[in-house]
Amino acid sequence: MIRVKSCAFVGIHAFPVDIEVDRGAGLPQLITVGLPDASVREAKERIRTAIKNSGFELPPEKITINLAPADVKKEGAAFDLPMALGILAANEIIPASAFQTFFFCGELALDGKLRPFRGSLILTSQFPKSSFILPAECAKEAAWAKNVRVFPVQTLRETVDFLNQKISILPLKNNPIHDLATATIDSDFSEVRGQRHVKRALEIAASGRHHVLLVGPPGSGKTMLARRLPGILPPPSWEEMLEITKIRGAVENHGKIEFVTTRPFRSPHHSASSIALTGGGADARPGEVSLAHLGALFLDELPEFKRDVLEALRSPIEDGMITVSRAKTQVTYPAKFQLITAMNPCPCGYLGDPLKRCRCSMAQIQKYQGKISGPILDRLDLQIEVPRVGSEILRQEEKSESSIVIRERVIQAQAIQLKRNHGKLNAQLSPNEIRRWAWPAAEGLALIEQAMKHLHLSARAYFKILKIARTVADMEKSSDIEKKHVAEAIQYRSLDRAWWRS
Ligand SMILES: Nc1ncnc2c1ncn2[C@@H]1O[C@H](COP(=O)(O)OP(=O)(O)OP(=O)(O)O)[C@@H](O)[C@H]1O
Ligand SMILES: [Mg+2]
Repeated sequence: MIRVKSCAFVGIHAFPVDIEVDRGAGLPQLITVGLPDASVREAKERIRTAIKNSGFELPPEKITINLAPADVKKEGAAFDLPMALGILAANEIIPASAFQTFFFCGELALDGKLRPFRGSLILTSQFPKSSFILPAECAKEAAWAKNVRVFPVQTLRETVDFLNQKISILPLKNNPIHDLATATIDSDFSEVRGQRHVKRALEIAASGRHHVLLVGPPGSGKTMLARRLPGILPPPSWEEMLEITKIRGAVENHGKIEFVTTRPFRSPHHSASSIALTGGGADARPGEVSLAHLGALFLDELPEFKRDVLEALRSPIEDGMITVSRAKTQVTYPAKFQLITAMNPCPCGYLGDPLKRCRCSMAQIQKYQGKISGPILDRLDLQIEVPRVGSEILRQEEKSESSIVIRERVIQAQAIQLKRNHGKLNAQLSPNEIRRWAWPAAEGLALIEQAMKHLHLSARAYFKILKIARTVADMEKSSDIEKKHVAEAIQYRSLDRAWWRS
């Protein structure tokens, strides 16, 4: 019996698949066992034709192919190549010993050419110190994994010649990044004029990984500001880049992706379905929350999102991952993102604007703001008002701070938190941990009590103010949380303060 090594993935984890090929007495036919789904069954026809069109013979006997393990659902066409090779080895066209070294994956076209498949990086990064023979078009992506040897092949014929040592193929050298430090930031904070307090608030958000709500009239720059958040987060480590790229490779098809060196910024439209956001569907692909993993998820026009879509965000926000179900299995994808949301203060957008009058009734405003469910609002630590900036400020040439400079401070503030909070950032602190690490002195506490009373702050605002105050103090490298830190934190609860909620 011949055994060919292949692999497949579920979520972003790969597992080995053994393809066993047995040649036995009986009428010439090809039988597959091991729970193959429809596309694997179809493979039989493709493989038969591809073998013939590559100029090889099929054995004139019964061939049985088993895909093990049998209890895991295996899908996709990436088993074409190893199945075809197994058949050729059964017919003694390739020595069976050739299979000890390599993993094989790839889809066959009828003429024997190899087609790329999605997720090749997921496969190779799971099996370091291994060698792979893969379709040339997805070999580049596959070779980004550390410590693997990837041999690119174009056709079945070429693969057979290589295994028979008639030709030589060199493994791909593919070091995606030559110098991490030169990875650029494409949208820079220096392009935003004015809005100093918003930039400050976003720096606090980035420092403590606090989720954010931007509230302001149309054209005030909310989208522009949100886009710049990933650029002030600490640059991703190599492992993080690999993880971001793997997830993208599981969605975007067929080896045509670039290695991702920056944190993602995803902004799904408010008409997006909950499946688009969380992932799932027939082939259980990752959704927007996973594509935003290790970066930012931006929900513009927050009140326009359907309620069930926002509700679906609760579990990834809590757990940093999402489990999607399909027919018989469940797939878990990572989904650790920083949430940044934006909305107008009212349906017309101009509530509180000094220049343009708001035309909404109180009932309309209440209805509009009420659309954001409490549990989501609850998770947005910072509520930032974004006023429109006047043309005199937009005209100014003054160069403001660049994202790189802000990012340096964010890195330092995070280092302080990670050390004190046993590896957590301030936004992730539990109430007990807040008592331990984020408790202000008497003066600060008194200020919060006052604010709760006079500004009608909700109870849920209480712990958020403490977490933000902790971050503000960390940005100043102050181990104590002082009154001024608390005072600044209170400013970032504008929606709680609003009169229509009292
Ligand atoms: N502070 C600013 N500095 C420089 N340009 C700005 C600023 N504010 C707004 N702009 C310009 O105005 C444009 C509109 O801003 P943006 O789309 O971010 O507004 P918005 O608040 O998201 O509006 P809407 O509520 O309509 O979505 C930006 O593309 C930018 O060119
Ligand atoms: Mg916008």
